[in-house]
Amino acid sequence: MMLASTSTSSTSSFSSSSSSSSSSSSSSSRIHTLLCLLCLLSRLGLGRYIEDNDATDGLYSLLSLDQKRDAEDFVFRRPLRCLDMLATEGQFTFMAAQPQLACAAFLIGEPSEVISLELSDVTVDCSAGDFIKIFDGWVLKGEKFPSSQDHPLPMRQRYTDYCSSGAPGGASRSSQNVAMVFFRIHGPDSGFTLTVRKLHNPFPCNIMSQSPEGSFTMVMPHQHRNCSFSIIYPVELQLTELSLGQRQAWRGCTGSGDFVELLGGNGVDTSKMFPMADVCFSPRGLTQMRMGCDNSVVRLVSSGKYISRVSFRYRLLGRSELPQAQENSLDDFCTVE
Ligand SMILES: *[C@@H]1O[C@H](CO)[C@@H](O)[C@H](O)[C@H]1NC(C)=O
Repeated sequence: MMLASTSTSSTSSFSSSSSSSSSSSSSSSRIHTLLCLLCLLSRLGLGRYIEDNDATDGLYSLLSLDQKRDAEDFVFRRPLRCLDMLATEGQFTFMAAQPQLACAAFLIGEPSEVISLELSDVTVDCSAGDFIKIFDGWVLKGEKFPSSQDHPLPMRQRYTDYCSSGAPGGASRSSQNVAMVFFRIHGPDSGFTLTVRKLHNPFPCNIMSQSPEGSFTMVMPHQHRNCSFSIIYPVELQLTELSLGQRQAWRGCTGSGDFVELLGGNGVDTSKMFPMADVCFSPRGLTQMRMGCDNSVVRLVSSGKYISRVSFRYRLLGRSELPQAQENSLDDFCTVE
């Protein structure tokens, strides 16, 4: 019941995650980041769930998370909430005290990780309309990340439905560093346990950043594939290195083979986002721009003819730094609400 097999033939890769978003960050800043992520998710379309589920309580239960998992070899366990964000390995048990009809757990790993999910101790009643579905990616406001254009699997195969699949309990594995579990449970004292493990992904392609600050290098060696790095915050983004395998500068990016797209938007589907810039050669002063949208994306479009590589760093834009709206201009896309 795999969500996706590792693309063994794939050579596209993001490498050298020298990011401040990775494990070096302190426990408290990491928790802060997760809370922000949950707040942003609410802006991106989960407001209803947040209201229904007493956000404050939920956020505080996340706070105790990192403090408990000091010892290695210790399996971290805690209850799963109806709306939850999981960034650590462990066992998470949901038990419905009352009917819970619209629950969602968002899972996220480091850029070079994929997520393995296993269900156990399942006591839901599929015939009564209960369900548990695992999705290979994130869905927010009906939009999906990675977009159907960029994901290696057709949409239908990205869902694993506990109730209709014949092999309950098998492990599912995501194709990128994010995955999601939807569930609906009517009966009291029904529930399940979700075991989360992180696996190394030598060739990450689509990535959701956990943090609003960091740096990253995407490498695409001779692979006809497009990969997106998504930061669901308004950020200032600076391209620090660009190598697209071409020797001379191009007049425009059209027809030039490989290029980098900078996209902005308020949803997570990159195919519905607004192109803010195309970059296909290294300008003297490397590109730096402020992207005032809820979601900022660096997308490497690759023909497969070259070894393409782009490095960038990003930081959260302060409220006062957000680009201002200009009337009757395309620039008013994604300005302060
Ligand atoms: C990559 O993106 C470009 C431009 O958006 C598109 O023309 C091309 O078909 C895409 N390639 C793949 C393999 O999806």
